Amino acid sequence: MSTPSIPQSPLHQDPVHGKVVAITGASSGIGEATALHLAAHGARLLLGARRRERLDALVARIREQGGEAVAQTVDVTRHDQVEAFVGAAVAHFGRLDVMVGNAGVMPLSPLDAGRVDE
Ligand SMILES: NC(=O)c1ccc[n+]([C@@H]2O[C@H](COP(=O)([O-])OP(=O)(O)OC[C@H]3O[C@@H](n4cnc5c(N)ncnc54)[C@H](OP(=O)(O)O)[C@@H]3O)[C@@H](O)[C@H]2O)c1
Repeated sequence: MSTPSIPQSPLHQDPVHGKVVAITGASSGIGEATALHLAAHGARLLLGARRRERLDALVARIREQGGEAVAQTVDVTRHDQVEAFVGAAVAHFGRLDVMVGNAGVMPLSPLDAGRVDE
């Protein structure tokens, strides 16, 4: 997937520009793609997941393209870590505008397996 270079459009006209956005599950897949997309629109990003090295590589890529991002490891199954993650956004950027709770896995099963508790 190709990512537009930053800045992509007149940023002063872009409603995303300057917004502080925290994304969980940013180390791969949809979260990573969302981070690159929002960075291209001038969002200031806090990127979270468990794999630090992947987050650091993504932060480096965004900064190389002129975007703004920081990383913090977070395991979303740990309440204390999620609180610290939100706190990191406020500590670093002064506020949090949007939280993208994307981290997770998607268990697939046939409907007739009836796994309604998952
Ligand atoms: N792909 C689809 O077709 C699809 C469709 C509908 C819904 N979804 C949902 O969209 C979300 C992302 O899907 P994806 O396809 O992008 O999956 P993915 O590539 O496997 O990415 C999952 C992300 O979540 C992170 N993650 C997993 N467990 C975590 C935890 N306990 N704490 C923090 N981060 C965690 C992973 O990072 P680390 O391993 O580094 O922590 C990774 O960055 C999932 O919730 C999925 O259920 C996906």
